Amino acid sequence: MSNDQKKVWITGASSGIGKAVAEKFAKENWKVAISARRENLLNEMAKNENIFAYPTDVTDSNKTQETFNKILKDFQDIDLCIFSSGTYERKSEKGLSVENVKTVMEVNFLGVVGCVKAVQEYFQNKKNGHISIVSSPVGYRGLPKSSGYTASKASLNNFTQGIYFDFKKFNVRVSLISPGFIKTALTDKNEFKMPFLKDTNYAAEKIYNGLINKKSFEIIFPPQIAFIYKIFQILPNKVYNFLVNKFVNR
Ligand SMILES: NC(=O)c1ccc[n+]([C@@H]2O[C@H](COP(=O)([O-])OP(=O)(O)OC[C@H]3O[C@@H](n4cnc5c(N)ncnc54)[C@H](OP(=O)(O)O)[C@@H]3O)[C@@H](O)[C@H]2O)c1
Repeated sequence: MSNDQKKVWITGASSGIGKAVAEKFAKENWKVAISARRENLLNEMAKNENIFAYPTDVTDSNKTQETFNKILKDFQDIDLCIFSSGTYERKSEKGLSVENVKTVMEVNFLGVVGCVKAVQEYFQNKKNGHISIVSSPVGYRGLPKSSGYTASKASLNNFTQGIYFDFKKFNVRVSLISPGFIKTALTDKNEFKMPFLKDTNYAAEKIYNGLINKKSFEIIFPPQIAFIYKIFQILPNKVYNFLVNKFVNR
């Protein structure tokens, strides 16, 4: 391993998109710190010589800070953070469960806020680096049967755009990752046919390319989903509500 190796911290890396992204970065010879709660899965991944396991629960902001401090001590430097932890319970989303909304907000929104807080001082002092947040285009506007998840992603989209400006002053890039439907344990809970469903390797390629070879704020894929959601974003309420009611609200 050479000393000029680039270094990345990825949360939500024990499965799905985060795992595929971690493996892609490792393949590209980055030194990769991975975090999530399931230690056994992280240790399995850490058999790769470029991957190192740092278990954490993002709902505990003190633990998140300790985890980042430990990574920094071991790695000496971090170039990029990708925060991909998230949760979704299709069944609980259909009703209006305060408990579900709390859990989803704690993981998907406050969990990511805790991660950004953990790295804030480091990046602002370093005056360089990149923080990227995995959210979702479903956060653009309200959708039926999604009482917590879309609200958590709407918060995350707004938060990410806000901190883009705050970190830009310190020469730190902030970007937003908006995947369409990707086949993972999270989407396996959906009983409906997911349009333009892609696998995690596709997502990892798109994310790597967007983070490393492009400079745009948002990395959104696949192109069909980008097109549909960008139209959704600008439609007047009357048209949007009519279309969602007719085609989604069944
Ligand atoms: N799949 C899609 O179609 C899709 C589309 C748009 C956005 N997304 C977003 O992409 C991200 C990854 O989702 P995925 O589809 O890859 O699902 P996944 O396979 O279920 O991955 C979720 C990851 O988050 C981690 N996680 C959950 N709660 C955590 C906690 N409290 N502390 C630390 N880590 C936690 C999980 O690990 P542990 O259980 O080991 O903690 C796992 O590694 C999520 O933010 C999701 O909202 C997914």
